[in-house]
Amino acid sequence: MEIHRASGRKKSPTLMVQWTAPQRAGQRRAFFMSKDYLQAAIEIAREAGKILREEFDRPAQISYKGDVDLVTQADKRSEKCIVARLQEYFPEHSVAAEEGSGQEHNSDFRWHVDPLDGTTNFAHGYPCFSISIALAQRGNLLAAVVYNPFYEELFAAARGAGATLNGKPISVAKNTSLSTSLLCTGFPVHKRLANPNIHYYWDFTLRSHGVRRDGSAALDLASVAAGRFDGFWEFGLKPWDTAAGVLLVEEAGGKVSDFSGQPYQLGGPMILATNGLIHEEMRQVAFEISQRDPAAPLRR
Ligand code: IPD
Ligand code: CA
Ligand code: CA
Repeated sequence: MEIHRASGRKKSPTLMVQWTAPQRAGQRRAFFMSKDYLQAAIEIAREAGKILREEFDRPAQISYKGDVDLVTQADKRSEKCIVARLQEYFPEHSVAAEEGSGQEHNSDFRWHVDPLDGTTNFAHGYPCFSISIALAQRGNLLAAVVYNPFYEELFAAARGAGATLNGKPISVAKNTSLSTSLLCTGFPVHKRLANPNIHYYWDFTLRSHGVRRDGSAALDLASVAAGRFDGFWEFGLKPWDTAAGVLLVEEAGGKVSDFSGQPYQLGGPMILATNGLIHEEMRQVAFEISQRDPAAPLRR
């Protein structure tokens, strides 16, 4: 293991980071401050969480990105705060943020930011929403935070170091059968008239203890990690919806793939995340549905 130069402390190659000061007048003044990526993400999520709590208590200022795709003042304020902090702490890293204020750099490191996951819930006063922040290095997820500031639940994970809820270790549920499982799914906001997921929703509902549709994919995945749900699937999610949740599930001992069993790629057409024990059974059911209903292909 490498030793960090400034502090002499042991340096974990995936978690310790060099903070570089902003460049001034063309001069690059770099200083080295050990900071754990995860600790930075937690600090930033808590700061953005204060903004969401504040906005939640006032009437939502809603505008529309699509037919039923809402965006509020809260999404924008939260993103502004998160992106500014990430750029301050990690000026060389790329930031991909949902509302478009991130920045591209020629870097191996990319932060995936959903400043408010569950905007529709938020706008209706239903307190199921979160902030989702994850860091990937060349596509390999290193650190993840999903934070629900209303219930003050902060889920965190670092590659190889496990997953926690408010600092306590969490792990996926032990259920081995779909028939006794509680599942969760979601429906994309842009497809109002028809959605093939309704076929899956129907079948999985009849074959399990039920399927919840909570409206924050990041929290859905965090709930699989915490053993509250045994499985989650959804089509058409974006990298900022899933990046943090995927690492949480993996670090909590679960499994993530697509319905064909291929490794899940950020931004891929569908995601299946489970406790691992019901993964193959869910894949088998999905296969049967896709064979029976041509409107519900396994991949799209
Ligand atoms: C949405 C939520 C929802 C999922 C949608 C997402 P947003 O994100 O994660 O659960 O079903 O597909 O778009 O728009 O609230 O950030
Ligand atoms: Ca989202
Ligand atoms: Ca969002």
